[in-house]
Amino acid sequence: MNNDIVVLKGITKKYNEHGLAINNINLSAKSGEMVAIIGESGSGKTTLLNIIGGNIKEYSGHYRLQGKDFNSLSNREKAEKKNKYIGYIIQDYGLIDDQSVYNNVKLPLLFNQDININQIRGLVMSVLEKVNLSKLTDRKVKQLSGGEKQRVAIARAIINRPALVIADEPTAALDTSNTFKIMELLKKINVEEGVTFIIATHNKKVAEMCNRTIVLQDGKIVD
Ligand SMILES: Nc1ncnc2c1ncn2[C@@H]1O[C@H](COP(=O)(O)OP(=O)(O)OP(=O)(O)O)[C@@H](O)[C@H]1O
Ligand SMILES: [Mg+2]
Repeated sequence: MNNDIVVLKGITKKYNEHGLAINNINLSAKSGEMVAIIGESGSGKTTLLNIIGGNIKEYSGHYRLQGKDFNSLSNREKAEKKNKYIGYIIQDYGLIDDQSVYNNVKLPLLFNQDININQIRGLVMSVLEKVNLSKLTDRKVKQLSGGEKQRVAIARAIINRPALVIADEPTAALDTSNTFKIMELLKKINVEEGVTFIIATHNKKVAEMCNRTIVLQDGKIVD
């Protein structure tokens, strides 16, 4: 067995009669790699990430996650894989604005059957420390800055110690200085914990901080 965590073979996705969003993509990512996906708006980045993240189930071709054909899993197994092995960071954060930092970050633990209720507080506090949010634990998300919200989203994405983190334009809403800080943080998690990252971005600087860059155009890998 090799150490590929994600292997896509001949993946094609058609939303409707107008052309292919993803056109016959072959791609693999090794465990511990940080891969950037760049390409113009509409080139298929989000679609590709949604296939890898298990959010899109209708496509042709084969997708193996940690050596297992993803689409052959039962719905229950898929949901479990998504919660335990995949962390997802999206551009507009996907947080519950009216809830505290603590409650947002805790959420994935509630769906993890390996976690005992009295482990929750310790796990949340330790991940908040990692993203430097210990002081904002009880603050409502709607009262945070963009960079702080992004760090809450990262904390929530990594709390179950996933093998793979998928990030769709994780820095799009941030200024240059915060973009750099967030990328440093992701890189640190990547290097220190061996978490694999697949990151879609428009930002060249973000791509440069990754190990490898894949360029999408019209649903195809062109570089
Ligand atoms: N739900 C959908 N239904 C129909 N077509 C869709 C849907 N989502 C995306 N598309 C189309 O699929 C193609 C790829 O879209 P996708 O969102 O993957 O691009 P993207 O590279 O993430 O773009 P952006 O940089 O703007 O986020 C586009 O032509 C888009 O219009
Ligand atoms: Mg997109």
